[in-house]
Amino acid sequence: MKRRNLKYRINWQDTWNEMRKERMIKPQISYDADFFKKTAQGFSMRIKFNDYEFGRKTTGILSEILADNFEVLEIGTGPGTLTIPLSKRVKSIVGIEFSKINAKNLKTNLEEDKLDNVEIVNKDWQEVDDDEIKGKFDLVVCSHFLWQVDDVERLLERMENASKKYCAVIQPCGRDEIVKEMFERLTNKKYTGQFEPDADYFAYVILREWGRLVNVRYLDYIHERNLEEEIRYMAGFIGKFMEIDKAVKEMMEKYLLEKKEEAMYREKSSAVVLWWSPDGRRG
Ligand SMILES: C[S@@+](CC[C@H](N)C(=O)[O-])C[C@H]1O[C@@H](n2cnc3c(N)ncnc32)[C@H](O)[C@@H]1O
Repeated sequence: MKRRNLKYRINWQDTWNEMRKERMIKPQISYDADFFKKTAQGFSMRIKFNDYEFGRKTTGILSEILADNFEVLEIGTGPGTLTIPLSKRVKSIVGIEFSKINAKNLKTNLEEDKLDNVEIVNKDWQEVDDDEIKGKFDLVVCSHFLWQVDDVERLLERMENASKKYCAVIQPCGRDEIVKEMFERLTNKKYTGQFEPDADYFAYVILREWGRLVNVRYLDYIHERNLEEEIRYMAGFIGKFMEIDKAVKEMMEKYLLEKKEEAMYREKSSAVVLWWSPDGRRG
């Protein structure tokens, strides 16, 4: 793919490396031995909220470019947040997912909706052979995946290599206030973006430097969690900075119950959809 040869480029790499170091720490959780299993299971349940609202709205935005005969490559499907609604709109999807439990949950979710046009590849994306996928797909997409790679520029390069028409990146925008409050309360540190999900602007800078004309759209969606799920959600972030043992878990529970008396915790969030054509065309 053609690139601009620029004398000056923004040095985003140092910031990316520092931010990623914090994001990729495994949380220290000792209050529940099944924490990670329950988190994966809860994730698979939650994506179905409002009939896959996040994935449906993303698919709606991508409908500007989608066609019924599209063959899609999705990297890091999770339990099918985007995969399930997208598979109803296109011919087929190859979904790369390296977590056994997420791949299994995706299989179950596909069966539940009687969808048979998704091939699940339970493999590490880093081990996929670029020559085998070169120019094979109408759309190459990843949703909430950017932090998973150490080299984001290489990811975008490899996505373009696999695409014959379009690429798309979807990423949540901002973190809800209550988790930031909890972080400050428990760690006595100021929240300075330690777990903001927005990695999209790195992608935007790189793509614009390459000369791509990137389309940007936003969507809103709702999260709903019960008390235990809300604690697990928060522990997943705060546990990167301190151990979450039974005593800390109880403090979280007490604070959440003081804050809200309802059984469910609802939050409105936003996400950004970036899509572009590797050949530099606008649409
Ligand atoms: C934050 S989740 C996002 C899942 C889903 N796309 C979504 O939008 O909700 C990231 C997913 O990427 C998967 N993943 C991370 N690194 C991967 C890799 N190198 N190869 C394949 N899958 C990977 C994780 O197992 C996880 O399911």
